[in-house]
Amino acid sequence: MDAHIQIKNLNAYYDDIQALKDVNIELPRKQITVIMGPSGCGKTTLLKTFNRFLELTDKTSITGEVLIDGQNIYERDIDVTEVRKRVGLLAQRPFPLPMSIYENVAYGMHIHRMKNNRNEYRKAVRHYLEVAGLYDEVKTRLTNPATSLSIGQQQRLCLARGLAVEPEIILGDEPTSALDPVSSQHIEGRLLGLKEQYTIVIVTHTLRQAKRLADYVIYMYMGEVVESGPAKEVFNNPKQERTRAYLEGQF
Ligand SMILES: Nc1ncnc2c1ncn2[C@@H]1O[C@H](COP(=O)(O)OP(=O)(O)O)[C@@H](O)[C@H]1O
Ligand SMILES: [Mg+2]
Repeated sequence: MDAHIQIKNLNAYYDDIQALKDVNIELPRKQITVIMGPSGCGKTTLLKTFNRFLELTDKTSITGEVLIDGQNIYERDIDVTEVRKRVGLLAQRPFPLPMSIYENVAYGMHIHRMKNNRNEYRKAVRHYLEVAGLYDEVKTRLTNPATSLSIGQQQRLCLARGLAVEPEIILGDEPTSALDPVSSQHIEGRLLGLKEQYTIVIVTHTLRQAKRLADYVIYMYMGEVVESGPAKEVFNNPKQERTRAYLEGQF
């Protein structure tokens, strides 16, 4: 496998509660990996170790390694801001910044001084709104506050904002769970379209969504990775009894 992310002997703790237990997995480049498993099994925790978001929560600690392109992102001299630029996170609910639609997308590009002039910023904002499938709905009101959008539109705006800083990896933590079915379909469609260019990792608790999106699957239970592998193999022929039980809906 051409692994983009490799996890070695990873343990994670909230104070003295262990949420991840000796996780060893590899995630393929430019495919969609879906992390699934029952509520509380550690999916969000695992995802947040991929861009060092976990340490934003108090009293968390980890041991082990997360390698992106072979480089451990927890090494001493790593620039955390750079890691989070390379590895973007689409949260469970959209959190637009308290500014206009336009500024939401331009914000990260400004911070990283990614463009040279206003015209370049304008072009890029339009481009990423198009990629996120939102441009036509907002092109006449780019200066309106982002909060004037529906939840589904806000989530696509957050996708555009995340893409604008040119990440290599997109993480999504149940990115459609707060959305209506049509908006969910929109986001799923975008993710499927983006996998040619990006490595995508999605947490979901719905098996149907996992089946629609996954090229590669990680099944977790109580802080452990029970099984991981190509989606076809895991769905059609799971190696572990616990995976089979989950797939058969025994949870
Ligand atoms: N901020 C926190 N403080 C203490 N325990 C937490 C915190 N967040 C999550 N946990 C615990 O860690 C475990 C894994 O949680 P999480 O990664 O959120 O699971 P999932 O996303 O699969 O539902 C759960 O037992 C949960 O109660
Ligand atoms: Mg979660």
